[in-house]
Amino acid sequence: LASLEVDLSAIDEGNTVTVKWRGKPVFIRHRTAKEIENSNEVTKAELRDAQLDSERVVNPEWLIVIGVCTHLGCVPLANAGEYGGWFCPCHGSHYDVSGRIRKGPAPYNLEVPDYKFLTDTNVLIG
Ligand code: FES
Repeated sequence: LASLEVDLSAIDEGNTVTVKWRGKPVFIRHRTAKEIENSNEVTKAELRDAQLDSERVVNPEWLIVIGVCTHLGCVPLANAGEYGGWFCPCHGSHYDVSGRIRKGPAPYNLEVPDYKFLTDTNVLIG
């Protein structure tokens, strides 16, 4: 299947779920107001792979990223690391709640797949 429809209604605020799409994990995080605010406060100058949060989300409440570390491809752990997003235990990369690389060896942010909202609570990935 090229595309994957996901019902977001059961994902509580602050939680992350992992779905499988084209053989890869995709993280879907229902961000809190505080997480959105924190993500927006980060400037490009602070970032290795400079992207504003607004360039990485469609609806700020929902972060959708491919769950593959951009260093050597491990699957990072959610709600972990020094920036509150993900931590890759393989070699210690820290990603923030926008999936941006903040510390450690990974060169790039977690990749954002193509997706669109079909309704407020249904998203089509791919
Ligand atoms: Fe994630 Fe190396 S694969 S830090």
